Amino acid sequence: MTLPVPLQHASPDPALDLHEAIASLKRERNAVVLAHYYQDSDIQDIADFLGDSLQLAQAAATTTADVLCFAGVHFMAETAKILNPQRIVVVPDLEAGCSLADGCPADRFAAWKANYPGSVVVSYINCTAEVKALSDYIVTSSNAEKIVRSIPEATQVLFAPDKNLGRYLEKKTGRSMVLWPGSCVVHETFSERKLIALKTRNADAEILAHPECEEPILRMADFIGSTTALLKYAVASSKRTFIVATEPGILHQMEKQAPGKTFLAAPPEGNCACNECPHMKRNTLEKVYLSLRDLTPRLEMSAELLERAKVPIQRMLALS
Ligand code: 13P
Ligand code: SF4
Repeated sequence: MTLPVPLQHASPDPALDLHEAIASLKRERNAVVLAHYYQDSDIQDIADFLGDSLQLAQAAATTTADVLCFAGVHFMAETAKILNPQRIVVVPDLEAGCSLADGCPADRFAAWKANYPGSVVVSYINCTAEVKALSDYIVTSSNAEKIVRSIPEATQVLFAPDKNLGRYLEKKTGRSMVLWPGSCVVHETFSERKLIALKTRNADAEILAHPECEEPILRMADFIGSTTALLKYAVASSKRTFIVATEPGILHQMEKQAPGKTFLAAPPEGNCACNECPHMKRNTLEKVYLSLRDLTPRLEMSAELLERAKVPIQRMLALS
């Protein structure tokens, strides 16, 4: 199939029905849209695959589509490209990054790793392809505990780039690791003080938290897990009200899959919307349409980087 590669987007006709236009481009291009739970609800609703980081990587590894439009953040689309180098991977907005990936540049990571010869390097999937290429295992919040436990006890483990997830894993597995000092700008924003107040007003509510949250928030949680695990827990629980300490995009699926239950977003410390991921929220339905129409911006990497970064991701998929 030969596909055009225009250099820049021309604005769409304002009268265009974006839902219909996206559906027709998907057919024409043999394309699929993969979306993370932190996307706006209109993007979630047009997605062919919706999930957490692990599910989206698994979907990217198995799809037979010619074009993958990845509505998430850059490291997620990069992972899809690494698993599918022969397919076209486009993103709605190339600037949609991640504070964890940005805070762990490959040169500093390589220097850090060099201080611990003989260690096994486990990196959270929220990192660049260059950091993946320097890692032994990639993990997500769904499988990190299992993968860390699979590494022989006597081996020193380096864990990057999220110190909060790292600390949580240390507690769960009882083994200490060397942690890269990174954190997520969204998950470190939740206020313990306001969470206590919200819980006091909703005494029956269960608190659900993502392991990227800081320790005081995790200590208050009734359940800790990846976005998919939080969703499944909320659906299965006999409780009616939940306080959710992660990016509030997930509330859309919780409300859809557990109608009648009440979901409250855990509050940030300031009077801001800083519990919303500014990177995830760069994507819009219009940008999804434009990326499918123009097949740009595309993810491209050298063959050498693709090969090296694939090894630890495949180890993860094999263990998941
Ligand atoms: P999940 O693995 O739960 O999808 O989390 C991804 C993420 O970026 C959390 O901030
Ligand atoms: Fe990165 Fe945090 Fe946004 Fe997740 S929520 S993509 S970890 S900045």
